[in-house]
Amino acid sequence: MIGDIIGQPGRRAVRQLLPDLRQELSLDMVVANGENTAGGFGITLETAEELLDSGVDILTSGNHIWDQKEIIPHMDEGLPLIRPANYPDAPGRGYLVQDGVMVLNLMGRVFMPTLDCPFRTATAVLAEAEAEHSPQVIIVDFHAEATSEKQGLGWYLDGRVSAVLGTHTHVGTVDARILPKGTAFLTDVGMTGPFNSVIGSDTDAVLDRFLTGLPQRLSVARGPVILNSVLIEVDDGTGKALSIQRIDRMVD
Ligand SMILES: [Fe+2]
Ligand SMILES: [Fe+2]
Repeated sequence: MIGDIIGQPGRRAVRQLLPDLRQELSLDMVVANGENTAGGFGITLETAEELLDSGVDILTSGNHIWDQKEIIPHMDEGLPLIRPANYPDAPGRGYLVQDGVMVLNLMGRVFMPTLDCPFRTATAVLAEAEAEHSPQVIIVDFHAEATSEKQGLGWYLDGRVSAVLGTHTHVGTVDARILPKGTAFLTDVGMTGPFNSVIGSDTDAVLDRFLTGLPQRLSVARGPVILNSVLIEVDDGTGKALSIQRIDRMVD
């Protein structure tokens, strides 16, 4: 699972690193959060296809999924791109099952737009998917701001899914672990984007915003790029996680 991919620098890093990582780590499936792939805001068909060509299998998203309106019709048309399942009545799908692997996207509600309850949505969607697809492996991208809400969902889903992996903050955390009932957990995967930045954006523009309080257009920063990701190994007989480790790489 690759953390939020930021603009062209992030896409380029994925294209440069992912084919080798797929080989080196014998990856069966690659999930990536694509909500920031188009200039930092949203995702277009072109940027989605670029990532799929680079070796991503399923794209997840979050609050920025609606920024580029052109993607909306494609979300119902077979593009392997999902949006948080707890949007009450939105285009697109909240989960996908591919080769026995279910990927579920949910969004938090603490310091975020108010959506349906991610906890109850998870239970409802898991019941539906179990009945229709009986997936062997279930990976959850929990796109949320608050560490507490993310840890809470990890414990809530422990033993019911293979992994609960946080996204959205663009800052990777060091708490990768397997919970007692076999669910791999990480508060935040991080981002794949410019290293010398404020969560991917140009530092000068962000500092202007903080120092003046005035609106300021943000652009994607330049320079070296960090790829933040996490590798999960799952027993496909039981659906339980066997290992979880961060994989972080730099590209000039
Ligand atoms: Fe993001
Ligand atoms: Fe986000």
